[in-house]
Amino acid sequence: MNTTEARSYPRRVRTEGGEIEFRHMTAADEAAVLAFAQKLPVHDLLFIPRNISQPKVLSAWIKEIERGGMTSLLAWKGDTVVGCGTIVRDLLSWSPHVGEIRMVVSRDVRGQGVGRALSQETFALALEQGLEKIIAQMTVDQTGAIALFESLGFKAEALLRDQVRDLAGNKHDIVVLGHDVGKVRAQLEAYGLPEAVG
Ligand SMILES: CC(C)(COP(=O)(O)OP(=O)(O)OC[C@H]1O[C@@H](n2cnc3c(N)ncnc32)[C@H](O)[C@@H]1OP(=O)(O)O)[C@@H](O)C(=O)NCCC(=O)NCCS
Repeated sequence: MNTTEARSYPRRVRTEGGEIEFRHMTAADEAAVLAFAQKLPVHDLLFIPRNISQPKVLSAWIKEIERGGMTSLLAWKGDTVVGCGTIVRDLLSWSPHVGEIRMVVSRDVRGQGVGRALSQETFALALEQGLEKIIAQMTVDQTGAIALFESLGFKAEALLRDQVRDLAGNKHDIVVLGHDVGKVRAQLEAYGLPEAVG
């Protein structure tokens, strides 16, 4: 695969949790994404700067997608959103070459390969955007997320102590993982997506 080719959607993958369809998130998906976000425990949302289970945060997110500052992919199982992968990038900052991946999957389909498929798809999109470095951050107890990102080649770069506070007032540490994606881009060009991000 050539990295200059735009990835086309919808795109379907088979997982242990059944067939999943990936599509770009648009304003039409607002209600379905809100239902997805509101079913997630707050602890699973602490790695995102704002609480996406609140309608006004979701509206701001959609505006940001339309402005081009964020790209979000939704994973659909039938007519239900079961996962979301987002790439955040600020072209006006001093880090236009850096993107952040944010990813979350519904609790009821976890452990069935949806997260792996979504992470590969989001990673491929991040490469297509020409990013040179990708970061991901999560609370330190998200062992599944850390294992998944490490398997994609991410390495721990920073630990931010007491960085986020949940609704009960408890503070949690955040780990920042980073990936210098130059090597992956070369593999992608040589062998295609599965070998590059698998
Ligand atoms: C991270 C997350 C998206 C994974 O979703 P998922 O659908 O359960 O992922 P998968 O079933 O595809 O599993 C992915 C891999 O992680 C591994 N894994 C999952 N949970 C694990 C755990 N607790 N410990 C170790 N490895 C684990 C799986 O074995 C799998 O590896 P494999 O593909 O080699 O078999 C999901 O746990 C989540 O939404 N977490 C909360 C939000 C979060 O912290 N996101 C990270 C911020 S970017």
